[in-house]
Amino acid sequence: MPTRLKMDQPDTRRRLDAMQQGLIGKPIDRPDGPLKVSGRATYAHEWEMPGCVYGVLVRATIPTGKLVAIDREGAMAMAGVLGVYCDQRFLRNPAQGTANAAPVQGVEQIDYLGQPVALVVAQSFEQARHAAQTLQIKYSEAGNGVFDPEASGAETYWPESDQLQQGDLSTAMADAAFRVDLEIRTPGHSSAPMEPHCSIASWEGDKLTLRGSYQMLKYNRNELADSLGIDADKVRILAPYVGGAFGSKLGISQEAVAAAIAAEDLGKPVCVTLSRQQVLESVMRRSESRQRIRLAADAEGRLIGLGHECLVSNLPGEDFYEPVLQGTHFVYGGAHRKLAMEVARLNLMCAGSVRAPGEAIGVTALELAMDELAHTVDIDPVELRKRNIPERHPEQDIPYSSRRYIEALDEGARRFGWSQRNAQPGQRREGEWLIGMGMAGVARVNLLSESQARVVLNPDCTATVETDMTDIGTGSYAILTQIVGEMLGLAIHQVEIRLGDTRFPPASGSGGSWGAASSGSSVFLACEEIRRKLAEKLGCDENQLQLKDGHASDGGNRLPLEGLLKGQSLSGEGSIEPGDAAKQRSQACYGSCFAEVAVNATTGETRVRRMNGTFSAGRILNQKTATSQCYGGMVWGIGMALTEEMVFDSRDGHLVNRDFAEYHIPVNLDVPQIDVALLEERDDWANPLQSKGIGELALCGSAAAVLNAIYNATGVRVRDMPATLDKLLDGLPER
Ligand code: MOS
Repeated sequence: MPTRLKMDQPDTRRRLDAMQQGLIGKPIDRPDGPLKVSGRATYAHEWEMPGCVYGVLVRATIPTGKLVAIDREGAMAMAGVLGVYCDQRFLRNPAQGTANAAPVQGVEQIDYLGQPVALVVAQSFEQARHAAQTLQIKYSEAGNGVFDPEASGAETYWPESDQLQQGDLSTAMADAAFRVDLEIRTPGHSSAPMEPHCSIASWEGDKLTLRGSYQMLKYNRNELADSLGIDADKVRILAPYVGGAFGSKLGISQEAVAAAIAAEDLGKPVCVTLSRQQVLESVMRRSESRQRIRLAADAEGRLIGLGHECLVSNLPGEDFYEPVLQGTHFVYGGAHRKLAMEVARLNLMCAGSVRAPGEAIGVTALELAMDELAHTVDIDPVELRKRNIPERHPEQDIPYSSRRYIEALDEGARRFGWSQRNAQPGQRREGEWLIGMGMAGVARVNLLSESQARVVLNPDCTATVETDMTDIGTGSYAILTQIVGEMLGLAIHQVEIRLGDTRFPPASGSGGSWGAASSGSSVFLACEEIRRKLAEKLGCDENQLQLKDGHASDGGNRLPLEGLLKGQSLSGEGSIEPGDAAKQRSQACYGSCFAEVAVNATTGETRVRRMNGTFSAGRILNQKTATSQCYGGMVWGIGMALTEEMVFDSRDGHLVNRDFAEYHIPVNLDVPQIDVALLEERDDWANPLQSKGIGELALCGSAAAVLNAIYNATGVRVRDMPATLDKLLDGLPER
């Protein structure tokens, strides 16, 4: 029986603080780092599978309609071609995160341009690609596609659980001393992980093994089994290394099911890797959004009313929608509130979770509006935020768990040198560059997800961890190593972490920023069990047991662990699940972001010159990996603010910019020196580690810091993101 903990109450023991090894929080290198940089970490495409053949997906060239016929014979006659598959079990789009069941399936009905409809398999990848490119497919086009959420033909719905009316916002707006009422637009974003999606499927009898690139294996296994119509216990998924994901690998996707179907038929391993264009066009997009924000403030700038109404989109049949209001519910006060969510049904590629779904664009829009309010009221933007941090959750009337938002604002301002800013826009100039400073608050919910792990303390004083957790580049291998080392008094090199195999105990997976806290807690609990067993051997209480450098002590005698183990191993299993603690306290991570930009007075080109992020996210498990997550989030913020935008052709919904030449993510030259500070914090309500999710935090507001800095530099408000040159040119002072 595993040691179970349901987080119904705060865990105030803070056990990690009582340990002796001194590893937690340290900026240790990733144990998987050397493997990765030397090419020895096996990514999905790199498994050597004897007899492996290659499949290439073929996608619909019409936006809506029916697939009528497919020239299988023509393709089969081509060199090297082994099979052409067009199967009702194919996925229309990937499963949404934690779906745990098949998404919409089928190849006859076409719902968006680029929907996979067939798989061509050949001896070589090149042969498969050639046959896929020339495969003749007959469609009957329906001609009823809707590609614009604001088109008159767009069908919309209002998800019931995401509408809030509290008090009377209209009256509050009318009574307000100061008000802001504006519309902000954000475009679609692509997750754009470095490693394209890939699956290698192979069968042994009725058992399927899938080597893939996925974030949440226990769910992915059920999704794959359900899609194929087989039992989940017949499916094994391996994903020990994942080259980035950002939400795009949360749910099983099209290539996995297609590879499995072909591999079963051919009796050989089939490898299907998506091209970059296919990843951009058929995996997941972040929905575009139109957000109306209303802020009603009294004479001191305190909010008396807050409105956030939002329009996003998705394919017919999908329940997911970008949870734009998630952060708005808890960050700022204002008694009179109206929050509303509307979702349009479009014939565009599927909308799903892309890095920090919700707050990434919701908090960003809110922070743009707060900047406008600060200027309207004429108080400092930092001070405006501090004035509006509520005592209790403004809608649920519950307290907050740990929240160092004020400290993050003050410390960020200090580190950045915010006092140097001239509040009046357009005042600072260096040659042809207009210089400005901007800031934004940052916030993201904290979540815990069910997770299990097994830990074995071996007779030679090494420890092995097994869990089907993933490391998507975030640092799972590192932080789990640290937790085990800390709890069992072992050095880093004595701990081996085995991840990414569904034969291991099912973990939370990586997503929603909950991976470290959830999988880490399960490993912590497993270690506690081992500690109890060791304490028993030593004849003391677990609380008295001190483990350090491979030695155990009850406070008096100090014994080598190996002597205590006497050739036997000890094992523990840990299982964490969320409970009432999540309902009793509003749990979130907070921060601030400050940016300095230079905008070219002639061309409108914006360069981010420096950036500071100050964050609190509970106990920091590894200073280096946590800081790296924040760098990443702030780089996303630069991209969101300045360049990232999925452009869909309004005639047929095809993605115009479907590669990295056209979809502009920031490159080194776009990213300045970034300063990240992490505030010390413990959150007893979150989990037994007192840590919170830091993965997506920095993205939730940082783009607003850049746009607010552009305003300070130029006097131009960009409310339609990203701030490309064309949106600045007309407003620049010299034109
Ligand atoms: Mo995240 S978008 O839940 O991987």
